[in-house]
Amino acid sequence: MPDLAWQQCINPQCRATYDIAQVLHKCDKCGNLLDAAYDWERLSVPHSLDEFERRWATRRNPLDFSGVWRFRELMPFAPDNKVVSIGEGQTQLRRAPGVAQYAGLDPARLHLQYEGMNFSGSFKDNGMTGAFTHANMVSARRVACASTGNTSASMASFAAALGSIRAFVFIGSGKIAYGKLCQALDYGGVTIQIDGDFDDAMERVQQVSKQLGIYLMNSLNPFRLEGQKAIMYRVLEGLGWQPPDWVIVPGGNLGNSSAFGKAFVELEQLGLINKIPRVAIINSTGARTLSELVNGRGIEWNGGNVDDSIIDEYYAYLDAENIRAVTLASAIEINRPVNLKKALRTLDFTRGVVREVTDEEILDAKAKVGASGIGCEPASAASVAGARKLRDEGLIAPDETVVCILTGHQLKDPNAAVNYHSARGEAFEQAFAKYGVKNARFRNMPVQTPNDLDRIIEVVEKA
Ligand code: F0G
Repeated sequence: MPDLAWQQCINPQCRATYDIAQVLHKCDKCGNLLDAAYDWERLSVPHSLDEFERRWATRRNPLDFSGVWRFRELMPFAPDNKVVSIGEGQTQLRRAPGVAQYAGLDPARLHLQYEGMNFSGSFKDNGMTGAFTHANMVSARRVACASTGNTSASMASFAAALGSIRAFVFIGSGKIAYGKLCQALDYGGVTIQIDGDFDDAMERVQQVSKQLGIYLMNSLNPFRLEGQKAIMYRVLEGLGWQPPDWVIVPGGNLGNSSAFGKAFVELEQLGLINKIPRVAIINSTGARTLSELVNGRGIEWNGGNVDDSIIDEYYAYLDAENIRAVTLASAIEINRPVNLKKALRTLDFTRGVVREVTDEEILDAKAKVGASGIGCEPASAASVAGARKLRDEGLIAPDETVVCILTGHQLKDPNAAVNYHSARGEAFEQAFAKYGVKNARFRNMPVQTPNDLDRIIEVVEKA
């Protein structure tokens, strides 16, 4: 009997298939990315998405408690007894009228999907449960990733919780925020600081993993992306199973955008949604590869026949000019996104768009998110800055329903917030000049006072 799940090359000229239990990450035949693929006709999938809500009543079952595996029929690559779950995906979709106003939207129409609520503080836990489950299926003992910080935090957390797996973290030296570095260190990950940036670390981790047979946890791994599809299932659930008009997401290595597109296409194929939201991917101007390739150089999915020469030429140009990604949104400081082609597929399937926002726009949007009572790290706020930009352009109408993904928690990078609100003069310059940030429009300056009751009361009364 043929398998119900397998791995398949995304290149339509190739379409090579591989057993689900193989460890590959790229197609052996043509080098393109792989998908997890399913024989949906022979699998049993609920007839309606609201059937998944029943699992809220059976949360003592760890699979039903998980915000990822309670949708397991939509990512059926693993038997239940192989699933590795530690309670990921307990996140929330929240309306944010103040942020809506900032973005120029109807106050009831903008929602923030707060993935910072995951136990390691970012959306990565959704993907890690998928990848660790596959690692468990193939009995991996060592796992590795390159990271701008969140992938490593999540991977080290899972490895520590399991106790039987060693985690190797590759990071660019000085390139990750302390909130993230402290996690990898605390959780006991072997942390290798490479003299280079994320793109260098990504290349090295692939070489090392291949040579030593270590299981790779970056989002090249199709099972990571299977887990990240659940972010969209929870968004739909939060909206009463009505697809929004737009999903806006920061773009770094382009795993999320790739996973979201796959989720929507599959749901539509299965007849579980009748509208596909448009996905907007937001780059920082300091790490703008996708934006340049799509908007500047006209690259397209083109039925899977992506013109590789456009990518090669652009990367050769980056090399020749020694251009490196530079953005205060360190999570997305990436110039060679590994999931580029899958993201092009998402743009095609969802009539998606790509935009760039400056680091100053990111920080202002982050302050507005903070003022709504949810904290996010800089990269996450790119989604809100992107919503505002798309609204300004008129591409998003004021009464459309928009979901911005807040990918990581505010405490991942407290320096960014504290400097934004309290640094002045030289200290401000030192923190931000290199990123082109000149102003903090929504600064909430702490007030210095002498330890004197009358003066303190004066400050309080004046506020
Ligand atoms: N937001 C945050 C907070 C991230 O940590 C990342 C990626 C992204 C957005 C971009 O997501 O790669 O799916 O486009 N962080 C990776 C890491 C690269 O190593 O933690 P993407």
